[in-house]
Amino acid sequence: MKKLHAKFKYREYDFLYGSGLINKTAILLTGLKVDKNVLIVSEKIIKKLHGAKLETSLKKSGYKYSWHLVKGGDNKTLAEISKIYSACDKQKITRNSVIIAFGGGLVQDLACYSSATYKRGINFVQIPTTLLIQADVNIGGCAVDLPEGKSMIGTFYQPILVIQDTDLVKSLPESIYIDGIAEIVKYAITNNFIDQLEKDFPKLLNRTPKIIEKYNYLSNKIKTDLTQQDETDSADIRIKIDLGHTFSHAIEAEMEYKISHGKALSIGLCAASMLSAKKLNFPMKKVEQITNLLAKAGLPVSLPQGLRLESLLSHIKKDKKYRNNKSVFILIKNLGKLEISDKISEQDVKNALKQITQ
Ligand SMILES: NC(=O)c1ccc[n+]([C@@H]2O[C@H](COP(=O)([O-])OP(=O)(O)OC[C@H]3O[C@@H](n4cnc5c(N)ncnc54)[C@H](O)[C@@H]3O)[C@@H](O)[C@H]2O)c1
Ligand SMILES: [Zn+2]
Repeated sequence: MKKLHAKFKYREYDFLYGSGLINKTAILLTGLKVDKNVLIVSEKIIKKLHGAKLETSLKKSGYKYSWHLVKGGDNKTLAEISKIYSACDKQKITRNSVIIAFGGGLVQDLACYSSATYKRGINFVQIPTTLLIQADVNIGGCAVDLPEGKSMIGTFYQPILVIQDTDLVKSLPESIYIDGIAEIVKYAITNNFIDQLEKDFPKLLNRTPKIIEKYNYLSNKIKTDLTQQDETDSADIRIKIDLGHTFSHAIEAEMEYKISHGKALSIGLCAASMLSAKKLNFPMKKVEQITNLLAKAGLPVSLPQGLRLESLLSHIKKDKKYRNNKSVFILIKNLGKLEISDKISEQDVKNALKQITQ
């Protein structure tokens, strides 16, 4: 079984990779010194598709468990978290119990925040079920929303184990599966494995388990390395995993979250590549390679019609990286070499966006 180890100030843990791994969940928990009392946070559809395998494993090893199913969609709210706290109380969750986050990014963020705060910290196990959140699994914390804005509250909190089961993504609709490709392309730019990815692309699109495992591992390793060096996101190291996200968050906000994170990121990566070509002479041939790869997956590579550049700019100013009255962008100097810049004018941003307008 492939394994990745993460070491943070207050916790060390493993990522385990394989096909059908959730069938062994209880065995994988052995040795982690936890009580056999579990709350599974998930969604109705995920329980229906894959819940039985998890239940069988827990039952066989004598675990007591219950499910808490969250409402899907745009729902990372404190009201939903409050319901998770009530479910913890009902299941008599103590600090030695376990919360299993069994779902996509929505479930992961809700369960992470609840685990970090309920009784000031419950053991938390992640079983991501979308390609997007397998490749970009929360490493180093999570954030949820307030009525005042998205991802406004969060915490730096680590799980005790991450189970990366490649079988789970087989049931994803194509449109949701490809969202994860955008995150993988982001990591391929960050550490320059884009040529390798290009070769493996047909197999990745065909959902070949070993290839999914390979790119989940590579992506998780980059995120872990950067996050370990900058646990509290204060040293301009971890920020690099935000490549393309200054644009994507603005696009998501302007489209009132009617576009998925993966699709907005795909457009964001195209915009960031264009901006890098203009400001750092990132070769246009490479911009085309990135754009073609995203397009081949079926992801959008141009700005949807009707989006106003001025509104996008005002969303960009609300980005968490905005500081000293300046927007901060992650630029590509070359594949494998990113640069952080706060010397980008509004006109530069508009030009990059115009270049990717249909
Ligand atoms: N904290 C982080 O590091 C981090 C990183 C990336 C994304 N996110 C957050 O994650 C969210 C996006 O994640 P997502 O794309 O996984 O979205 P999601 O959790 O909303 O899942 C997308 C859809 O897929 C369905 N689904 C999930 N697993 C399935 C499966 N195995 N088979 C069939 N259907 C399944 C869900 O029911 C949902 O309808 C955003 O809220 C984003 O902000 C967080
Ligand atoms: Zn992302």
